[in-house]
Amino acid sequence: MAEKPPVCNYEGSDYQTSFWDQGGRAYEDAVEQVALKRLLPTGGRLMLELGAGAGRNTVRYQGFKRIVLLDYSRTQLLQAQERLGKSERYMYVAADAYRLPFQNGLFDAATMIRTLHHMALPSMALRQVRNVLMEGSTFILEYANKQNLKAIFRYIFRRQTWSPFSHDPIEFAALNFDFHPTAVRDWLVQNQFAIERQLTVSHFRMQFFKRFFPLKLLVTMDSLAQLTGNAWQLSPSVFVKNRAVGSCTAGEHGLFFKCPACETGLRDDGNSSQVVCSNCGSVFEHVDGIYDFRLK
Ligand SMILES: C[S@@+](CC[C@H](N)C(=O)[O-])C[C@H]1O[C@@H](n2cnc3c(N)ncnc32)[C@H](O)[C@@H]1O
Repeated sequence: MAEKPPVCNYEGSDYQTSFWDQGGRAYEDAVEQVALKRLLPTGGRLMLELGAGAGRNTVRYQGFKRIVLLDYSRTQLLQAQERLGKSERYMYVAADAYRLPFQNGLFDAATMIRTLHHMALPSMALRQVRNVLMEGSTFILEYANKQNLKAIFRYIFRRQTWSPFSHDPIEFAALNFDFHPTAVRDWLVQNQFAIERQLTVSHFRMQFFKRFFPLKLLVTMDSLAQLTGNAWQLSPSVFVKNRAVGSCTAGEHGLFFKCPACETGLRDDGNSSQVVCSNCGSVFEHVDGIYDFRLK
C-alpha cells in the first residue's frame, strides 16, 4: 500500500468541549442518538469505533462486550479514556483509518460517525473497514451529504457555485468533504457492503429552528423525518446501516493486531509497553493504556 493519504489532525483539539459541550449542539447530538438506537444491533462481541474522538457515542454501544476506540489523535483518545475509564471493556488505539492495525475478520460490528468527511480517499478507508469485519457484520456509517436542502436552495439562488447534484465530493475546507449519497452508496457496494437501511438526520440544523422551537419538538420532528431516509436524502447528515457481504482473506488465527506497515501478524500479550513487528522491525508503543500504531 504505497499511498499515504493526508490525515485531518485533531491532536490537541478541544473539539468535544468547543463543538459539542459548549457549542449549542444538543439537537444534533440527540438526533444522532435516535438514529444510532434505530440502527445498532442489540448486542455483539467486539465493536470497532472508527474516528471515536472523545468517545461521545461510545456509551451508546451498550450491548457490546468489548469496544475498540480508534482515532488518529492520541489526545482525543486520552479524553475518551477520561470519560470512559480504563477497563477490559474499552481498548484505545491510535491509528490511521487508512491503515488499520487489526487482523482481517476480527470485528462483528463497526461504526464511523462524523469521520468519513475527513477522508480524501473514502473508498480506500471503507475497504480497510470491510477487511477487518467478519462476513455478516453490521457497519454503521454516517456521512455529510452535499445534496442537502440548504445547499440546493443556495445553488438555485446562485449563492453557491458548486452543484449539490454532481457526484464528486466537495471539499469546503481543507480535508472536510461533503459527499453525494449515490457516490457513497457506490463506494459501499464496491467494497462488499450491502446497504440495509438509510436514515436522514439533522433536518432542522439551522439557527432559526434551534432558536424558535423547543429541543424536544425538533428531536421528535427529526425522528419522524429520519424514516424517509430510504426514499430520499436531503438532510445534511445521513446514517447508513450496512452488512458486510462476501468473503475476505482470513486473518491469522489467534492474533488481534497486524503491522500497519507490512501487514504481518503481531504478537502481543497486552502487558508490554511495546509491540514489535518480527518482519519489518517497526516498534509500536503501548503507553498509558493507549496503543500507538501510527506510522512515522
Ligand atoms: C469530527 S471528529 C468526530 C468524533 C466522533 N466520532 C464524534 O462524532 O463525536 C472526527 C474524528 O476523526 C478522527 N480522524 C480523522 N481522520 C482520521 C484517520 N485517517 N484515521 C483515524 N481517525 C481519523 C479525528 O482525529 C477526529 O477525532
